[in-house]
Amino acid sequence: MTLLNSETNGPTNEQEDSVQDGFKPGAGTVVVTGAASGIGRAIARRLSLAGAPRTVLLDRDGAGAARAAEAIGPHARAMGVDVRDPAAIEAAVTRIEEEDGPISLWCSNAGVHRGQGLGNASDWDASLAVNLHAHLHSARAVLPRMARRGTGHFVITASAAGLLTDPRCAPYSVSKHAAVALAEWLAIAHGDDGVTVACLCPEGVRTAMTAADSAVLGAEVLEPEAVAGSLLEGLAEGRFLILPHTRTAEYERRRAADRDRWIAGMRRARRRAASAAPLYAAG
Ligand SMILES: NC(=O)c1ccc[n+]([C@@H]2O[C@H](COP(=O)([O-])OP(=O)(O)OC[C@H]3O[C@@H](n4cnc5c(N)ncnc54)[C@H](O)[C@@H]3O)[C@@H](O)[C@H]2O)c1
Repeated sequence: MTLLNSETNGPTNEQEDSVQDGFKPGAGTVVVTGAASGIGRAIARRLSLAGAPRTVLLDRDGAGAARAAEAIGPHARAMGVDVRDPAAIEAAVTRIEEEDGPISLWCSNAGVHRGQGLGNASDWDASLAVNLHAHLHSARAVLPRMARRGTGHFVITASAAGLLTDPRCAPYSVSKHAAVALAEWLAIAHGDDGVTVACLCPEGVRTAMTAADSAVLGAEVLEPEAVAGSLLEGLAEGRFLILPHTRTAEYERRRAADRDRWIAGMRRARRRAASAAPLYAAG
């Protein structure tokens, strides 16, 4: 890349530019997608407890989001929105800013886990629509408004699978790698606007997504509330990459340091996994 030079990561730049302004929940409206359940619901609850004056829970499961909002309290509201629909997101953003005030934090969290091995065409369509394109729709609707105001925070929930690669499921891993790349691109593009972008990458979390397949969870399993707590800490510190599990950062370092060694290790892990999925599913 011609943009990179010896100064890009030089010590002076690193110290002066690496930390963005931290998020403070007391100001502005916060929005969480995929908030009817699991990690999204826990993030909404945690933000509210931390003092967010208005919390909006978005989910295609509108009734589930309404139940979650009711449990949080009167300053929370729910909207039934399918995040695959860019017009629906744009309409939700307009309505929220008119009725609840400027959005200070948008957590683009909804995600799906589809397919095994290389997956089939519909696994790829479903995974890319929610795990990548939906983040893009949210970014297009929300970030220009934040940039005009010169302030705002935008979070993409990707996954450790988007850093380290889950050998069991290509559509999930690849769509999550894409989500990490999009978050990084947005963080670079918007840093100078006063808008911070963060990327949440958990390993196994006990939610509906993992309930059917305990093998997805891995060795260190967290509750959604712990992931929400890590997110708030990371946002307060203005960090880009938020890794709730203790080992992920070390794995990420090892992978970057020696990709061939990393791939050999992952091959061994795949062979060892009793539940190794077939590589090629029908379709
Ligand atoms: N559970 C884990 O182990 C784990 C690990 C790493 C990352 N993640 C990621 O965390 C995020 C939340 O997952 P979770 O574990 O809480 O799962 P979950 O299934 O409990 O919750 C996902 C929520 O997203 C909603 N959703 C799905 N598609 C949608 C759409 N098109 N429009 C609107 N809402 C939609 C669902 O209705 C659901 O309420 C996902 O992006 C997931 O990939 C989960």
